[in-house]
Amino acid sequence: MDSATSPFDDAISIAPMIRVRGGHSAHAINLDHAATTPPLRAVRQLVGECLDWYGSVHRGDGHLSRIASRAYEDARAIVTTAVGANEREHVVIFGSNTTWALNRLAHRLALGADDVVISTALEHHANDLPWRRGAQLKRIRCDARGAPDLAHAAWLLRQHAGRVRLLTVTGGSNVTGVLPDIAWLAREAHAVGARIAVDAAQLAAHRPIRMGELADPTHLDYIAFSGHKCYAPYGAGVLIGRRDTFAGGEPEHVGGGVVRRVTHDTIEWADAPARDEAGTPNLVGAVALAGALLELQRLGYERIAAHEHARTAQLLRGLATIPQVVIHGDGDPSRSAARLGVVPFSVAGHDPRLVAAILSHEAGIAVRVGAFCAQPYVAALTGEDARCDVSGRGLVRASIGLGTTADDITRCCAVVGAIADGHHHEEYQWDAAIQAYRPHDERITPHDCFASIRQKSSTAAMIARG
Ligand code: ALA
Repeated sequence: MDSATSPFDDAISIAPMIRVRGGHSAHAINLDHAATTPPLRAVRQLVGECLDWYGSVHRGDGHLSRIASRAYEDARAIVTTAVGANEREHVVIFGSNTTWALNRLAHRLALGADDVVISTALEHHANDLPWRRGAQLKRIRCDARGAPDLAHAAWLLRQHAGRVRLLTVTGGSNVTGVLPDIAWLAREAHAVGARIAVDAAQLAAHRPIRMGELADPTHLDYIAFSGHKCYAPYGAGVLIGRRDTFAGGEPEHVGGGVVRRVTHDTIEWADAPARDEAGTPNLVGAVALAGALLELQRLGYERIAAHEHARTAQLLRGLATIPQVVIHGDGDPSRSAARLGVVPFSVAGHDPRLVAAILSHEAGIAVRVGAFCAQPYVAALTGEDARCDVSGRGLVRASIGLGTTADDITRCCAVVGAIADGHHHEEYQWDAAIQAYRPHDERITPHDCFASIRQKSSTAAMIARG
């Protein structure tokens, strides 16, 4: 394989050219897949086609409305199959993103002060904050590599047996790429009568998910993920869960779509999933999300994992050659097949925000810097108490995706090495408005994505003036 290409080049969009130092153009290098993945080519095409037959979903009687309604339900069926769920036992609810989905689940479970939820010290804020409301939240601590301590998990489950309603855990960490042993956790949770929810936001694009039948002790009761981390464009997320959880109870959001009959005095709620999908649904988002899952299956999760394993091992090996770099979590390249390609690091003596700015402005390399919506976990990884406020500090995070090439990783490690040795070309200043460093004499104006419409408006105004 040519080091400048990825095995998935045919499936992904070509990286756009961007301006870097000195006004040069370079292909953007995306090492920020953990935040957002670029849409796959097949998904872009599908979205374009969808816009051609776009109509009102479940709220119209015209031809396009019928096509749109069918497409929306087809998307639901595709998601059901893709995650190893089944229509008899599970329901697929479309919404906006994983945060929406986990909040919706917390609402639906209606936990009380005597209920215990067990989570982990690794979680994204979206899988921690909703559980602080109502129930008692206990967290499985993490070990030296940043993975959940399974002995502590077993102890917590035993300690609170009978009161644990839910064990909720990330399927793959957005900070360290740790892959918790979900099947083991599911079995242990079910053994004490608890259910298990998996925040699959970081998992769904990288590994196959199997919810399984409810009779299987390793089944997953609930999962949540977003389209924009699965190579679909923004806008749709999904909550998949046990039908019995969503069959009754008041919807969180009320309005059109969630009712069967309404009088001034009475309401009869619709069945699941309509009961949880108030308002006109996001047809394009649901179709894009389902299309992305189909395309990921076609590309093959084994191939995807092998590609990410190779690039992750390369990144870990490359960063390890830079004496000033500290890799947080598991830095061992020999274990990179058992994790995701999400690598947090720091460069001794360098503000991580400045490291990210130099990578971007001088090499066109996008990483993310900060605490990645997981501040207590980042505090723990950096040796601080989880009660410390790390919001203004954090780490640099490089995350790998389908389009990442060996050359991208080589370039990233070379630039990080140069930064560590104090070499960079521009002077940078802190810009409080954008909360980032930027070159002190930056002259590059950001791309105006509305330019084509503005152009038409100004041409029309010129014609009107004569
Ligand atoms: N949660 C996303 C990330 O990790 C946004 O970057």
